[in-house]
Amino acid sequence: MAVIDHLDGGYLRQALEHDVRTGLTSTPRWLPPKWFYDETGSDLFSRITRLDEYYPTRRELEILRDNAADIAARSGADTLVELGSGTSEKTVLLLDALAAAGTLRSYTPVDVDAVTLEAATRRLAADYPGLAVRPVRADFERHLSLLPRDGRRMVAFLGGTVGNLPPAAREVFLKELRSTLRPGDTLLLGTDLVKDVRRLVAAYDDEEGVTAAFNRNVLHVINRELGADFEPDAFEHVARYDADNEWMEMRLRASTAMKVRLAALDLSVAFESGEEIRTEISAKFREEGVRAELETAGLRVIRSYTDPAGDFALTLSVR
Ligand SMILES: C[S@@+](CC[C@H](N)C(=O)[O-])C[C@H]1O[C@@H](n2cnc3c(N)ncnc32)[C@H](O)[C@@H]1O
Repeated sequence: MAVIDHLDGGYLRQALEHDVRTGLTSTPRWLPPKWFYDETGSDLFSRITRLDEYYPTRRELEILRDNAADIAARSGADTLVELGSGTSEKTVLLLDALAAAGTLRSYTPVDVDAVTLEAATRRLAADYPGLAVRPVRADFERHLSLLPRDGRRMVAFLGGTVGNLPPAAREVFLKELRSTLRPGDTLLLGTDLVKDVRRLVAAYDDEEGVTAAFNRNVLHVINRELGADFEPDAFEHVARYDADNEWMEMRLRASTAMKVRLAALDLSVAFESGEEIRTEISAKFREEGVRAELETAGLRVIRSYTDPAGDFALTLSVR
């Protein structure tokens, strides 16, 4: 199954150069989370989803186990498009439910990481012989208008990944997504909910240090792709809850003063000891906030589903 690739032709390289130059020369410094995800980053994320501390994946799975049939029936979708699909592990619950409802025809996983996308495609094509699996490598912040539009679609955006977008970018994203949907197409949006701060921080700062390795992976990516000389181990992993904004932040903190050279950008960046780079925000939502954001974007909420503990939400909305 050939991957349609919107990130070829130097696009990815240009985008990385632009983001790294902009982020590392800003005050405070930042890097967008999409650059965590090369093959190693995706593997580390998969390990994170299995950690005791990382509740979101288990909760979202619980919600899907209990409600996938209802979601499939209400959506009436024959085409599932999944943004930031990664390993597509949870997706099988939706595919099975759509197949049982008798509507399923095609599945389009969309991700920036080619290796993980291809592996997921091979697995699903083998497991679902009648299913048209049409993978697309693309940036969901840039390429929504290029995704396949045929069929009655449900767009799934799971894992709470939408929370990686800051509020203004999220508003733009949801409006753009809505403009690509036809009346009757649905969005299934996974959001992590506000909860006890200790549980939130533990989910981003596990005992084994898998999340710390995932966080530092962005520096390995920049070293490899841009000829930089970051010493990833000289950066401490920081996970912090911002209560005012109701989001988790991951940061990398320089443990000593240092100068980093990025050869491909002809750029040197000086870090003071203790200086930080923000590498991810992960917004924590309230159900009424999710509803308001969807409605502002022109999407009508059909139903919101949560796990019994109220940790995570899946919201089905329709254009
Ligand atoms: C937090 S993981 C979630 C993976 C999976 N959906 C889940 O729920 O376990 C985010 C996924 O989105 C992908 N991703 C991140 N930024 C992206 C972007 N801008 N465009 C497309 N995919 C992106 C990553 O490669 C990764 O597979």
